[in-house]
Amino acid sequence: MMILPEKVTIIEVGPRDGLQNENDFVPTEKKLDFIRELQKAGFQEMEITSFVSPKWVPQMADSFHIATNCGSTNIRNFILVPNKRGIDQLLQTNIKAVAIFVGVSDSFNKKNINRSLKESLQQLAKPVQELKDSGFFVRVCISTAFYCPYEGKISEERVIDLCNQFVQLGVDELSIADTIGMASPLEAYSLFTKLKATFPEIFITAHFHDTRKMGLANIFASLQAGVDRFDCSTGGLGGCPFAPGASGNVATEDVVYMLGRLGIQTGINLNQLVKAIDVIQPHISRKIDSAYYQAYKKSLPV
Ligand code: HMG
Ligand code: MG
Repeated sequence: MMILPEKVTIIEVGPRDGLQNENDFVPTEKKLDFIRELQKAGFQEMEITSFVSPKWVPQMADSFHIATNCGSTNIRNFILVPNKRGIDQLLQTNIKAVAIFVGVSDSFNKKNINRSLKESLQQLAKPVQELKDSGFFVRVCISTAFYCPYEGKISEERVIDLCNQFVQLGVDELSIADTIGMASPLEAYSLFTKLKATFPEIFITAHFHDTRKMGLANIFASLQAGVDRFDCSTGGLGGCPFAPGASGNVATEDVVYMLGRLGIQTGINLNQLVKAIDVIQPHISRKIDSAYYQAYKKSLPV
């Protein structure tokens, strides 16, 4: 018999993971319109932007403005940060949720944030504890948890060891990422089963990029492992500029549709997601090819 939860939480990462990887800078007001339309769709948690160097990721250069004008404060809005400088900036906003990011693979960590993993951990340990002491919700995004574009297959032991170091610091959530979309459902099931058993008190979230169209299958396998939180990106936007081959995240609308057909509640309104896509589409270079959006636009039964 299939093991399925009654409810799943979707953490919408489109405004951050989605827009960071666009070729052209999306005008700030359009980003805010996109965020507002997404808020109306019913998300309780969203990554809205990142405090990173504008020299590294010019698409996020307006992040402070986004963070201080993002509207609804009764949902959990995350800012993604890589270092102490990002945390200092976060403390100048009203936002109380942070997403720290590191890669399991040292090579990826260096390409992405110009630090070894050891250096990142050393730099982040004290600020993370301080954030927890000040009442922040702290999420840690663990990149290259399955495969690394530079090192290949990553062992489960390395992932669990890194997660454990953050759990010791008191973090609330671990978001485990298949950065380049290479995980198989068997690998997803295996790693998430171990993580759920090892860290029963921590929110465990799955973050699948959909490069090889394995995102939905991986989500289905992760549900069997007891995962009930998924990072998804409306329109299937996204990708990491420092991970060759990383395409968009699995599209939120396709995930919400699949979960709905499985009888699982998400609280997300699909018609409103389509409106959010319609708002952002004219400002991005890629075509939105998610199955749900295509079917909706062709007036097929959905
Ligand atoms: P660096 O060059 O080593 O930085 O880059 P630095 O500490 O030597 O400082 C150099 C300059 O950057 C200084 O400014 C700093 O103030 C500034 P200057 O004096 O030259 O004018 N700086 C900053 N500015 C804004 N915000 C900051 C910040 N820190 C320093 N936080 C750094 C190191 C981490 C800054 C850089 O490598 C960087 O910004 N990397 C970001 C990469 C990124 O955003 N990647 C995508 C997000 S991760 C992702 O997508 C994966 C995920 O989705 C999960 C998955 O799918 O795997 C989460
Ligand atoms: Mg990502």
